Amino acid sequence: MPSSIGLSPSSPTDELPVNVRRLDAHDAADVGLAADILLSGGLVAVPTETVYGLGADASNADAVRRVFDAKGRPVNHPLIVHVADYEAATRVSGKWTAIAEILGRTFWPGPLSILTEKSPVVPDVVTGSRDTVVVRVPDHPATRELLRLLHEHGSIGLAAPSANKFGAVSPTTARHVIDDSGDSIEAVLDGGPCRVGLESTIVDCRTDAAVVLREGGVTTEEIVWELRQHGLTVGHSADVAGTTDPTNAVAPGMLESHYAPRARVEVFESADKLVEREAALATRGVVHARLESTTDLVEYSRNLYAG
Ligand code: TXA
Ligand code: MG
Repeated sequence: MPSSIGLSPSSPTDELPVNVRRLDAHDAADVGLAADILLSGGLVAVPTETVYGLGADASNADAVRRVFDAKGRPVNHPLIVHVADYEAATRVSGKWTAIAEILGRTFWPGPLSILTEKSPVVPDVVTGSRDTVVVRVPDHPATRELLRLLHEHGSIGLAAPSANKFGAVSPTTARHVIDDSGDSIEAVLDGGPCRVGLESTIVDCRTDAAVVLREGGVTTEEIVWELRQHGLTVGHSADVAGTTDPTNAVAPGMLESHYAPRARVEVFESADKLVEREAALATRGVVHARLESTTDLVEYSRNLYAG
């Protein structure tokens, strides 16, 4: 019998290694402590509705540099700046366009990231010295409260990539964060399993035709529909998928090998073929597991990385 995985993410009460502090997202004092750690230059992994982020105070260049070390991430792979609300997003932008306004007001808080011209308040290390910045308002109450605390202390927000090591799949539970990056962060704010389970959709909003750079929690169809209401369009998606050279890509995360699990993955078009394959693997004694397939894509997305 193959084990069935992906439907039971680890519980927030799982025991964690002692060197990392587990903070409870439902406890206001713990959220305040997470803010204190960040404001003193520490790294804290935070829950969002998409995946966990590995955060640093975006106004603190030294703290942001530590994020690249912790992830093993090339410094030319810029980080998303997370902010508490729409107004805070406009403050990191040098030029907030009509499309950015429509999409931000429609989909925030939520799994949408907007690429916009960068304001000088954003340190170069956050954006890999690009003249653009990607910003989003995550839909998680504890993390938004944390972001409000950071803003109150003068921070532009939280610079955070997904909390996995470079190239691996994104963590959707606090436990996954610990297993992947526990040795290089001060604390994890445990908010339970992520609701969406896939990354945010990144949209280039610099011109009057939006360009979807990375598909994610908000679908391209939803974006097209919303823009149509305002007589606007979605431009051609930049030809970035499949590239092997991060310096040339508009969004450097679109590499040929990215979000790769440490296992061979096979996809089947029919249940019959899958069952046949499982039987063959079992005969040869190959360790394997089945990601539950379901016709509910939202549920499937939520459990995909955990699986
Ligand atoms: O759902 C998400 O977006 C999660 C949560 C934590 O918010 N974050 C996330 O971050 O997926 P990360 O760093 O794993 O992916 C962000 C992508 C990367 O491919 C990065 O290169 C691209 O966004 N990116 C960030 N800033 C950029 C910029 N200024 N120009 C082009 N690409 C940028
Ligand atoms: Mg990532």
